[in-house]
Amino acid sequence: MHHRQLAPFPEGFLWGAASAAYQIEGGWNADGKGPSVWDVFSKQPGRTYQGSNGDVAVDHYHRYQEDVALMAEMGLMAYRFSISWPRIFPQGRGEANEGGLAFYERLIDALLAHGIEPVVTLYHWDAPQALMDEYGAWESRRIVDDFEHYCRALFTRFGAKVRYWITLNEQNIDTTRSFLLAKHPPAVRDRQRFYQANHHAFLANARAIRAFRQLVPGGKIGPTFCYCPAYAASSRPQDVVAAESAEEFTNHWWLDVYATGRYPASAWAWLVEHGQAPRIEGGDAELLAEAKPDFLGINYYYSQVFEDNALDGVGETDFNTSGQKGSTPVNGVPGLYKTTANPHLPTSNWDWAIDPDGLRITLRRVTSRYNLPVLITENGLGEFDQLSDDGKVHDGYRIDYLRHHLLACQQAISDGTKLMGYCAWSFTDLLSWLNGYQKRYGFVYVNRTETDPLDLARIRKDSFYWYRDVIASNGRKL
Ligand code: BG6
Repeated sequence: MHHRQLAPFPEGFLWGAASAAYQIEGGWNADGKGPSVWDVFSKQPGRTYQGSNGDVAVDHYHRYQEDVALMAEMGLMAYRFSISWPRIFPQGRGEANEGGLAFYERLIDALLAHGIEPVVTLYHWDAPQALMDEYGAWESRRIVDDFEHYCRALFTRFGAKVRYWITLNEQNIDTTRSFLLAKHPPAVRDRQRFYQANHHAFLANARAIRAFRQLVPGGKIGPTFCYCPAYAASSRPQDVVAAESAEEFTNHWWLDVYATGRYPASAWAWLVEHGQAPRIEGGDAELLAEAKPDFLGINYYYSQVFEDNALDGVGETDFNTSGQKGSTPVNGVPGLYKTTANPHLPTSNWDWAIDPDGLRITLRRVTSRYNLPVLITENGLGEFDQLSDDGKVHDGYRIDYLRHHLLACQQAISDGTKLMGYCAWSFTDLLSWLNGYQKRYGFVYVNRTETDPLDLARIRKDSFYWYRDVIASNGRKL
């Protein structure tokens, strides 16, 4: 054990929690909202866990005042939430829907009234279905103009009230599930379409940042990326190359473009060789290079181990969406790498390795490669929480998880990371896209099942009181 004196959390550190529109709001067609791709996809048989969907979710749309009051009671300093694009533009573009804008205005004002800093995510996976029908959403370059139009409407309306903005949430995870694992809409397996859709998303991210510079000069903006640090399964050089390739294809591919505007060289060479590189048009490179983020949003849940994979080896397969421990299959890219379990780490019931050191490694790698401030926009533990006979939820395992990850943040700060804040995932329990309501993350339990909203009562978990004390002591009392 090392007994190093750790740097304290800086003054003004943003202690926060996070959510996303589709996962909490409900009110799926309230006040002029159009359907999102998830409103449609979740109704198709077999797509989600027990057919769960966000029609009601935890009804935050109608209960936001109660939720904000709980945040204030906890002492939360920042709340990250996303705006639903089809609430603002039911058809994806054209005229803005005042009903949708007014809801977010009420929410932002309620947060500000309690001194809670709003952190707004512009896009957390719920694209307007109208754009999917019209041109295949992210598969068409047309989405770049429509996304910019949507972002401009929000910057104009809320730019004076909201200082922190996130462009895209986890472009890497969403597109991987949409185009490689056939788990998110449009649910296909096609590597070329994957890289092309990603290129459009990079352009959309860059256009949003460029518009932001014009419209919100004092604000801060960046993308949020889900970073799973790649470890080598052994010191065999073949495994180390596999882990380096995984790092390049699963992390640098996105972060390099966000931070520098350039695709990483070895991944690019491999894609050209395999006929999978995206089509790039004149002006794209300049736009990507120009749009520099102020910070990187990082979501961290787990690390992954990689080993060598033969040319005829395993490809993209599937992942655990049941909570049945040990049901995650091996995934890989033939000729590059494949996953293997980490014998040194415990896992959650969803087979996610519990690895606080992985967060420190993430922050160090990101800092040395990009030298940008980091905002942790998600980190947390999804588990089967139980409402006990005493009417409480004793989630000591979550406190344990969060405590150790916050210690890892302190180690990273000591190592030189400029960490702006930490948003735990999530504030209340919410809908997991593919795991239903049984996989819970919140500080606040919400009483509902997969298909029955019950009374949707809010119940403070043990972790609620623990995090309240952490915030009050600026992290001195973990
Ligand atoms: C991130 C997403 O991938 O992780 C969230 O940004 C998501 O929307 C969270 O809910 C946890 O993932 P899961 O699959 O456990 O719900």
